[in-house]
Amino acid sequence: MREAPIAVFDSGVGGLSVLAEIQRLLPDESLLYFADCGHIPYGEKTPEFIRQRCSVMAAFFREQGAKALVLACNTATVAAVAELRRDFPDWPIVGMEPAVKPAAAATRSGVVGVLATTGTLQSAKFAALLDRFATDVRVITQPCPGLVELIESGDLHSAELRRMLKGYVDPLLANGCDTIILGCTHYPFLKPMLREMIPADISLIDTGAAVARQLQRLLAERDLLGAGPNRPVRFWTSADPQYFQNILPLLGQASGKVQRFAL
Ligand code: DGL
Repeated sequence: MREAPIAVFDSGVGGLSVLAEIQRLLPDESLLYFADCGHIPYGEKTPEFIRQRCSVMAAFFREQGAKALVLACNTATVAAVAELRRDFPDWPIVGMEPAVKPAAAATRSGVVGVLATTGTLQSAKFAALLDRFATDVRVITQPCPGLVELIESGDLHSAELRRMLKGYVDPLLANGCDTIILGCTHYPFLKPMLREMIPADISLIDTGAAVARQLQRLLAERDLLGAGPNRPVRFWTSADPQYFQNILPLLGQASGKVQRFAL
């Protein structure tokens, strides 16, 4: 079981930002990655739809013998992590949520901004997170429709992207945010562009590294940490595999074998 792979899931390429953190922290593990690109963006879908996609994905990864699942998607986590944990109680499942707790601890201005999908920001789970950790700070939330689609198209630099991103970030700055949470796994790929448009003393916080550490803890508790040698990452996409293959190097991954997932 220790040599079994770890499954990583996102609606698209965003989870690659989390995959990279897992590779850094746990280089001896073999990894599987499923991008549901045929159904992007999850941020504008209903929770029922996302839960249904997650149960298809989970059944697939169970068949592949995955020893743990990382839900490398904030939107899928708020919609489906509770059901997945109920359906697979024996499976270590790591979800993601916007980093409200560390941001509330870090802010000096007392104002925190959250960039995330509409689905994440509208969820009861996000509301509960604010109730729990953000009672002493002001939180300005900003849904970002359109960003995910541009990143999925491999765009990290265009004028259109810059205009859209600026439109989402400016209101946060105008409200005095000194800490901005990247609450969607696609957004860490925008850090270089964000850095160009915000003052240097504003912090950007995302949770990829924390998720990798949580995965490491869960595996260690169950004596499931792999000891290598790892195999190259195997990728599946519900859209065009060739397209996904081409985008991998743009997002920091060595190109790997990409297969079509037809369900
Ligand atoms: N990457 C996903 C997240 O972390 C969402 C992207 C989408 O809208 O499909 O929320």
